[in-house]
Amino acid sequence: MNQCWRDLAISFALICSTNAVAQADSLTGEQLYDIACSACHSLAHTPDHHIGPPLGGLLDRPAGAVEGYRYSEALRNSSWRWSLPTLVAWLADPDTAIPNNAMNYVNPMTAEETQRLGEWLLGES
Ligand code: HEC
Repeated sequence: MNQCWRDLAISFALICSTNAVAQADSLTGEQLYDIACSACHSLAHTPDHHIGPPLGGLLDRPAGAVEGYRYSEALRNSSWRWSLPTLVAWLADPDTAIPNNAMNYVNPMTAEETQRLGEWLLGES
């Protein structure tokens, strides 16, 4: 498959798996994280092979602060700090929250699911 078809196939896979999220009320924060975030993020504390920065120790961490990860300038200079309200705002609409960021993500979750995922992630990491 050439790159374009591969990207398309991945997009469809994401759309399908995220529709499943919208239908199931009973998913835990951890399950939501596995479906919606783990393709691009790990819960490590140092950069690894994932596309996104590691999310370990996220609570109260300044945005764009993991040493060795190449953030967009927008995120690095945002002066955001991660808490439940900032994380929920970021996930609800990353492009409005921090314009020109490099997280290519559209939130398929309800507000309630986003909150549940955020609580789990900040408690876990
Ligand atoms: C398609 C890949 C992708 C998906 C899916 C994704 N992210 Fe990201 N995320 C990124 C990238 C890339 C960045 C770095 C953005 C930048 O530098 O502007 C990022 C940045 C972040 C940051 C900022 C971290 C820091 O160190 O400041 C948080 C928090 C975050 N993502 C949470 C999530 C959560 C929670 C989910 C699931 C709901 C998610 N992301 C889904 C790719 C993704």
